[in-house]
Amino acid sequence: MLRGRLDDRFGTARLDGLNLGPRELRSFRRVKILGCGSAYYVGQIGAQLIEELARMPADAEAASEFRYRNPVIEPDTLYVAVSQSGETADTAFAVREVKRKGGQVVGLVNVVGSTIARECDGGIYLHAGPEIAVASTKALTHMAIGFAMLALVLGRVRDLSITDGQRIVAGLKELPGQIEQVLAGEPRIAEIAAELAAARSLFFIGRVRAFPVAREGAQKFKEVTYRHAEAYQASELKHGPLALIDEELPTVAIVPDDELTDRNLGAIEQIRARSGRLVVITHPDVPQCEGQRITVPKNERELDPVLLVIPIQLMAYHAARCLGRDIDKPRNLAKSVTVE
Ligand code: AGP
Repeated sequence: MLRGRLDDRFGTARLDGLNLGPRELRSFRRVKILGCGSAYYVGQIGAQLIEELARMPADAEAASEFRYRNPVIEPDTLYVAVSQSGETADTAFAVREVKRKGGQVVGLVNVVGSTIARECDGGIYLHAGPEIAVASTKALTHMAIGFAMLALVLGRVRDLSITDGQRIVAGLKELPGQIEQVLAGEPRIAEIAAELAAARSLFFIGRVRAFPVAREGAQKFKEVTYRHAEAYQASELKHGPLALIDEELPTVAIVPDDELTDRNLGAIEQIRARSGRLVVITHPDVPQCEGQRITVPKNERELDPVLLVIPIQLMAYHAARCLGRDIDKPRNLAKSVTVE
């Protein structure tokens, strides 16, 4: 994924497949990301990365809804379709809706030569290798890294300084080794997952960069364990969901070491005060707090979601194993949703 695509000297990435030169890249005023399910949640990670690094308004939308609201397609918006299979019907229809109305759409796609890859005006292949299991895992990590490179390219034709660009390039290079470190922590994650498997319902919470991570956590957990799991912004707890917290409902809190750490710790305190069980996925320098703790290595704050997402996938996998689920082929789901 990263090989040959990072440019240390100029603090940027080389994404020739986009078929967009610097002048065209500069002409876009906003970015709209379209994907389904987990690809949509990674799209939210991508939108955050683009806003932070390129300072362009960016958002992600469920591709399955997009064409039904007769969307306004703007010539100065860059549309990005994101898909592992490249065959998801809802995402392919969204691409056609953009193109039919004259918009420009690029793809972040894993499967080479797939429908979405062919129909987009250009794109970034993820090179994650074949993904067989229904639950998308490694492709999602690759999508997040793809968005980081896209954000870098969009940022470097705007106001992202060469130093900041080089900081992100260095962070991207650190990721493979750091992913190995997260994977080495699997036995502890498995222990915690075994306890979570007993719960009938769970919350996943996070804020801003960590909220899409929480959404993906809830999605994976329900997909493979068939347990009810819901994601909330940690900031929203007091606006309703806190009413459900008791000793029966565990919360998995994503607490990165960033400008929101103290606020996240405040939310944890609120859960603890109501006897809620906590699993905290965090960074080594975050102060010890209530609950079982899983740490991941710190990277640049913009790239943290790439690493934070891995323990929650492992957690879902091990909880499903404890429950004897068919993890590779969960009931009622298909790997590639080629029908509407
Ligand atoms: C992920 O675990 C799911 N199986 C599902 O949400 C998936 O991400 C979605 O259907 C989109 O698939 P795609 O990436 O192949 O387009």
